[in-house]
Amino acid sequence: MTEDEQKRMAAEAAVTYVEDGMVLGLGTGSCAAKMVDLLGIRVQAGLKVIGVPTSDATAKQAAELGIEIASLDQVKIIDLTIDGTDEVDPQRRLIKGGGGAHLREKIVASLSDRMIVIAEAKKRVSQLGAFKLPVEVVRFSAPALMPKMQALGSTPSLRQDGGGALFITDEGNYIIDCNFGIITDPESLALTLSTMPGVVEHGLFIDYADTIIIGTDNGVEIIGAT
Ligand code: 5RP
Repeated sequence: MTEDEQKRMAAEAAVTYVEDGMVLGLGTGSCAAKMVDLLGIRVQAGLKVIGVPTSDATAKQAAELGIEIASLDQVKIIDLTIDGTDEVDPQRRLIKGGGGAHLREKIVASLSDRMIVIAEAKKRVSQLGAFKLPVEVVRFSAPALMPKMQALGSTPSLRQDGGGALFITDEGNYIIDCNFGIITDPESLALTLSTMPGVVEHGLFIDYADTIIIGTDNGVEIIGAT
């Protein structure tokens, strides 16, 4: 089975958790885009939901599919967020931000009653860290934060876009991708990063994901609450 098929299977399984009337956090990335496509089909068939997109790209996709979208001043609660991930470990801790949207993704997830994470099989790891940890930083602080990320034990690089210019997030910030190698204590690293002036948000999601749905060659595997 291809990775694309695994992603689609995970997205299909996640969409079965969506109920009429829900306010949904809509994730970002290729897996989340498949989920939004499937949601669009259900909406076109009459399902009523409101989506809170986690990126400009997802907002555009959802609007094109006819999914009603809202911003945070328009909704009181978010019932369910469905999003992808770059890595997930057995404790359901995540590294996110490969698509550069982890700031809005974390805000939306933090406001959600439930978060379902969808991914293809290769995203499941025994320990986080093979994927470079994205750290979104205020532009002004980037030159000062690069050596600080190195002092924390990583090899940092400022993210560039496809054309070689510095990548700018939807919130107007830079991303430092930090290669830590295996992260032995994600909680402690998350705390350290969260307290550094200039850091807006890091890609470690700890205690956010309630349910992980992994598409595998043998069907979907569900980890956590069913
Ligand atoms: C975006 C993200 C994505 O969820 C993550 O990068 C996974 O993306 P994909 O499903 O394309 O592999 O965190 O900021």
